[in-house]
Order: sequence, then structure tokens, then C-alpha cells
Amino acid sequence: MSFPRKWESFDFQKIINMRTIKHFETEAIRTQSKRSHFGEHATPLYMTSSFVFDDAEDMRASFAEEKEKNLYSRFSNPNTTEFVDKIVAMEGAESGYAFATGMAAIFSTFGALLNSGDHIVSAQSVFGSTHTLFTKYLPKWNIETSYFKVNEVDRIEGLIKTNTKILYAETPTNPAVDILDLELLGKIAKKHNLLLIIDNCFATPYLQRPIQYGADIVVHSATKLLDGQGRVLGGVAVGKKDLIREIYLFSRNTGPALSPFNAWILSKSLETLAIRVEKHCENAFKVAEFLENHLNVNWVKYPFLKSHPQYEVAKKQMKMGGNIVAFEIKGGIKAGRNFLNSIEMCSLSANLGDTRTIVTHPASTTHSKLTETDRLEVSITDGLVRVSVGLEHIDDIINDIDQALKK
Ligand SMILES: Cc1ncc(COP(=O)(O)O)c(C=O)c1O
Repeated sequence: MSFPRKWESFDFQKIINMRTIKHFETEAIRTQSKRSHFGEHATPLYMTSSFVFDDAEDMRASFAEEKEKNLYSRFSNPNTTEFVDKIVAMEGAESGYAFATGMAAIFSTFGALLNSGDHIVSAQSVFGSTHTLFTKYLPKWNIETSYFKVNEVDRIEGLIKTNTKILYAETPTNPAVDILDLELLGKIAKKHNLLLIIDNCFATPYLQRPIQYGADIVVHSATKLLDGQGRVLGGVAVGKKDLIREIYLFSRNTGPALSPFNAWILSKSLETLAIRVEKHCENAFKVAEFLENHLNVNWVKYPFLKSHPQYEVAKKQMKMGGNIVAFEIKGGIKAGRNFLNSIEMCSLSANLGDTRTIVTHPASTTHSKLTETDRLEVSITDGLVRVSVGLEHIDDIINDIDQALKK
């Protein structure tokens, strides 16, 4: 039997997206690549590096972008397109591109949108590698960054210069769970004609949609709650069409693309994002309340606790408080290390947003190279413990934390 040279063309770019869908949960489940002739229910894994064309004209027109076709998986792939289309819908964005990691999403966004001589104004409390980009790598291209502390947002406008292009923040912050007012950031960005870029990794679009407040681009480490099961690395940037086009062109030439396999995993994960995140938040709130009354704890920071310094802002912009709880154990670095050593069930790991509860002690691990002054600048005290609350039974999580605090 000979195969026909011209394959029946399946338009894998097109997504099944029914007009009756109005809700987040349904969109996350029902947004799907167009079915192939096999009529599969779940989206297949398109583990292919490239795609075929019917003839020379089809290939020419596809490369000239006269046709919306997959060319090569560094550019697009049905699995990555499905994942991106879900995040675009969830964040209320116009367009997006998926990356191998969250850091690839952040670096490529800067790489595409910034020119030599541009300036960034950023919150000081940002993820460690993002901070390293600002301090070590972007200056190589003559791009400087000025910082404001999370509790000094009134200083932001004073930091803006004529060459400032980007206002950057994450909220809630990692690891101290501080909150920045997205409405305020949106207004400042608009007034000064800046691009507002928000890392929405800790909240996920289920809890918070920065575009609603004026963000131009939202970036994510999909490695965290979007996967939610600690399996794959991934990243995504979504936002305004013209900006994403720049990010796409930069990325299609520099190569940080997400693998189809990871996209397939992530797209499936998004089907349960809403229900997972609700339960994460429910558990985290109970852990925070428990810690607030614990004798061996100085203070607890959780966005939906009334004691959180930005409680009102958190309530305004987030649906629930997220899955990260920060607290200060009495006894500083020694007590923090002792707490980690006494934990029985929870994992000691660098990740977060997993079904498994994870505890970290930043002062003796991730941030141990910083001086005490530098650590305190970003709210990392000696006894700060970060708990990424998982989906185990709440009693088991609390019992483990309690027994470790008492040792
Ligand atoms: C807030 C935040 N942004 C970005 C990243 C980087 O993501 P990835 O590890 O997927 O590169 C992380 C990782 O922990 C993070 O917590």
C-alpha cells in the first residue's frame, strides 16, 4: 500500500473553544486542540520536532505566515499551543508563548522587549534568579535596574527615569509572601507609559489576574502550581498581542521553547488547577491559623490572615490566599535548621506548589550567600520558614509541623 503524498490536512493550530463556555474551570478542561481523524478524547502527544508540507507552495506560504501552520516545534507545536491557549484564556490575555522554564520566560521577555540603555524599576523582593538577571546579566547590555521595597511603593515614581521601560513585580513575593497592590502598579505604569510585567507564579490565574489591573505581560513558572505535581519544568508569558509577537520572534530564534511532552503534561494539569488551588488555599489557611497561635512562632505571614500587613490589598486582588505560608520560628538560624531536621513527613525541597507539602529555611539554604543586611532588606529573617502547603490531609500536615516545632 502506498501512502498518499498529500496528507489530509489537519489544522492542529485551531483549538476547540465553544462559545457557551463562560467559566474558568470549563475553559481549562474544554479548551483543546482540534481532534485528529482518530477521534481521540484526550489530546494526543505530538512528539515531533517538525511538520510536513503538501508541496512547495504550501511550504512557502506557511513560512511566509500566510497560513497558520506548525512548522517546527521550536516555533510552535499542537501541545504547546493548547497549553498556551489555556493560559491566555485563564489570564484574560490576547496571546502567549511557552518556555522550557519560568526563568526562560522571564529572560526572553526582557531580551525581546528591552534595548541597550533601557532601565527597569522593580520590586526588591523578586525570585533569586530574576534578581541575578537584574544585577549580573542585564547590566552586560547596559540595562540597569532600580529597586523599591514592598512597603515603600510611594518611592516608585521617584525611581522612574526618562529611559525607564519596564515596571516589574511579583505578588505574592517569594519567599516572604508580601503583597503588592496591582491596581496601584497598573496606574503608575499607565501614567508613565511603562510596560507592567507581573510574575503571577504564586497566585496562578485562578486567584489573581494582573491583566485586569493593567499588566501588559504576565509571566509564570509553570513548574509550580500550574503543574502542581512536581513533575516538569515549564514557563509561559502571556499578554498583549504585539508584545507577545516580539517575544515569540526572539524565542523562535534563540530557542527556549517548551517541549511538547512537558506541554502535554501541563495542559492536563490545568484541567484540575481550580480544584487543586482551592484545596491548597484551604489547607494553607488552616496551617497559618495554627501557626499564629503556636508558642514557638514569633509571627506568621499569610495574605488572608488579618495580621498580614497588606491584608486589605490581598483581599481586593486575590480570590483566596495562595498556598505559601511564611513564619518566623523562635531561635533564629539554629532553630530553623533544627526544624528542618525534625520534620518527618513534609519534604525538604527547593520546589513549591506541589501536592506534597514542602518546607524550606531560606537563611540557611537558598539565601545563605546574602549578608544579613541584604537578607533583611527582602524580609528574610534568620528564623523565616517557608511552607508550600500541599494536598495531604490537613491534620497530617499540622501534626508534622507541630512535632518539628516542639523538638
Ligand atoms: C516567583 C518565581 N518566578 C520564577 C521562578 C523560576 O521558575 P523556573 O524554576 O521554572 O525557571 C520561580 C522558581 O521558583 C519562582 O518562584
